[in-house]
Amino acid sequence: MGKQLITLTVNGDEYELAVASHHTLLDVLRNQIGLTGTKRGCTAGSCGVCTVNGERGEAILSCLSLAVEWDGRSVTTIEGIRQGGELHPVQQAFLEYGAVQCGFCTPGVVMSAKALLDVTTSPSEDQINEALAGAICRCTGHIKIKKAVRAAAAVMRDNEARDDG
Ligand code: FES
Ligand code: FES
Repeated sequence: MGKQLITLTVNGDEYELAVASHHTLLDVLRNQIGLTGTKRGCTAGSCGVCTVNGERGEAILSCLSLAVEWDGRSVTTIEGIRQGGELHPVQQAFLEYGAVQCGFCTPGVVMSAKALLDVTTSPSEDQINEALAGAICRCTGHIKIKKAVRAAAAVMRDNEARDDG
């Protein structure tokens, strides 16, 4: 099958890639670039383990998005969210609140939470529930995860206030 050359920026690094028309963003991230933090689960848009962030920080299910549609665009994965060598506030809060459950669901949950907090650092419970609804751990629950998201939101609000001040 023919391949198309695309330019894709991942976590700030630009890649030129020959991609097959049926390959997804998930395929390219994992198999061609070697960033395996983004997980492959249902490949049908139901589990959220493949969640990455698009240009505006929005949550993207990379298993549902064809790689050719990402030509000239940029994406952030779990490997790219550290800030200045430090964990992102969402990652830090997940550690502090025991919200890191397994390596399979956690990256997608973190990226879903980050997408929400990039839009608002004062999310309502409904907004938190909605943001996490597609990124489910089916083994345990969301209680610690939600505590961590609220804590990360507080840290990000403080950071914003410091930056504004
Ligand atoms: S792999 Fe399950 S939603 Fe993408
Ligand atoms: S899927 Fe990760 S702990 Fe349940």
